[in-house]
Amino acid sequence: MARLFDQPLRPRAWHVLVFGIFLLLVYAGFQRVFRVLAQEAALILTDAAMVTLQEKIESLGPVEVRGGELFAGAEVLRGHPVVVEVQETTGLEATIFHRDVRVATTAIRPGSSTPAIGAQANSYVRDEVLKGGHTFRGSARATDQTWVARYDPLYDVSGAVVGMLATSASDSVFSTSVAAFRVLLGGTLFVLFVIISGLWLAAGRFTSELEAQAGAIEDRNQRLERAARLLQQRATELEAARAEAEASQRTALAESEAKSQFLANMSHELRTPLNAVIGYAELLLEEAEVGMRDDLQRIVGASKHLLALISDILDVSKVEAGRLELEVLMFNLPDLISDLVASVRPLMDARGNALDVFVDPRLDDMKGDPTRVRQILYNLLSNAAKFTEGGTVELRAERHGGRVRFEVRDTGIGMTATQLARVFKAFVQADVSTTRRYGGTGLGLTIVRLLTERMNGQLEVHSEVGQGTSFAVEMPIRLPEHLAGRPCPGP
Ligand SMILES: Nc1ncnc2c1ncn2[C@@H]1O[C@H](COP(=O)(O)OP(=O)(O)OP(=O)(O)O)[C@@H](O)[C@H]1O
Ligand SMILES: [Mg+2]
Repeated sequence: MARLFDQPLRPRAWHVLVFGIFLLLVYAGFQRVFRVLAQEAALILTDAAMVTLQEKIESLGPVEVRGGELFAGAEVLRGHPVVVEVQETTGLEATIFHRDVRVATTAIRPGSSTPAIGAQANSYVRDEVLKGGHTFRGSARATDQTWVARYDPLYDVSGAVVGMLATSASDSVFSTSVAAFRVLLGGTLFVLFVIISGLWLAAGRFTSELEAQAGAIEDRNQRLERAARLLQQRATELEAARAEAEASQRTALAESEAKSQFLANMSHELRTPLNAVIGYAELLLEEAEVGMRDDLQRIVGASKHLLALISDILDVSKVEAGRLELEVLMFNLPDLISDLVASVRPLMDARGNALDVFVDPRLDDMKGDPTRVRQILYNLLSNAAKFTEGGTVELRAERHGGRVRFEVRDTGIGMTATQLARVFKAFVQADVSTTRRYGGTGLGLTIVRLLTERMNGQLEVHSEVGQGTSFAVEMPIRLPEHLAGRPCPGP
């Protein structure tokens, strides 16, 4: 209820006000009806009392005026206590007039024991009853009650009007019943007012809450609709972007295909004559005189270097074009390592480096691409040999669960952190002086990185200037079949 009064005055509050006024009017109307009914009831009482009074006088005997006194039979009527019983039960008064002067009554003045006598009827009544011979009914309002009265002519034995009989009553006789009715009606109307207006206001509040909720729902709907439209728009944009990306992917694929086709052709075109040069140079070398041998040796060396270079460039390009295909086959890892060690030993010897090799006895067959594993290790070992002089190079192969970890450690020149950050980029060497001093193109580590990634492997490097460098490559001992033969995405 308290919440109701928090609300601003709404139309429903006006309705309640009007309803309240209406009920007050109804109440006032009923008040009036009660009063009229009470007066009517009082009139009926005076009629009944009049009949009783007439019967009483009749029972006394015929009415006569003798010696200026009014008699009924033998009884002189002055001061006669008529219709006392009527007054006791109903509060009625009965009065006998001789002419227009009261001679007998049931009314007793306060402090007296004899019924009151002696007042005169007013002229209006006198004319009506005594002269006109009519019955007169009248009523008068006095403070909080209304008096009603009935006057009848009193006839003597000869039929002449000699006086009047009067009965009167106040509507206050019914005041208790009227008050009870009034309380009952007032209470009922008040309860009705409280219930109906309470319900009306509560319904109003409920309705306005519903309206507010409906408004909120409508609001939310609109927001949702906006969001849906936005989503639809985003979806359309995304679809367009996807189509665009697909188109450019198709173009890129076509480009990369063209590129690798070109590279394959180029490689063939370059390698064929180069192999021929090497072949002929070696042939000449066999038969050459001593004076020519050195030059021919240089030709063979330079040509082989060029061939290796072309292979490296081709490898990088292939991986970058997503065209490098891995073989997956079973091979013996210790055999591969001893073969590799044999081929790098001349490099080690050339710079006076010792080579330590450790192969975990738990390592045996491995499934993967032996050529690429060998290429990774060869590149790392050739670097170690190249950048170390009179030191030690160590190759370790250890088994870690389902993976093999290769480590190539040297005690060579080492690298700074800045150099380390660059060396895996294609054609990048630690610094420009390296090229001058050690030769090379800066592709070796790039190939190591690309191949390791391609085999689901991991590559780590630690290096300290002047102390040495260590590279670690970890890869699965069983290369998953699905990695075989499938071109990989470029870096
Ligand atoms: N073991 C190492 N010790 C010191 N520096 C190294 C070592 N390995 C690589 N580097 C540095 O990293 C650079 C890049 O090596 P990478 O193998 O890619 O190229 P490269 O050996 O110079 O040329 P390429 O291998 O193509 O003949 C090298 O030039 C060198 O500066
Ligand atoms: Mg190298």
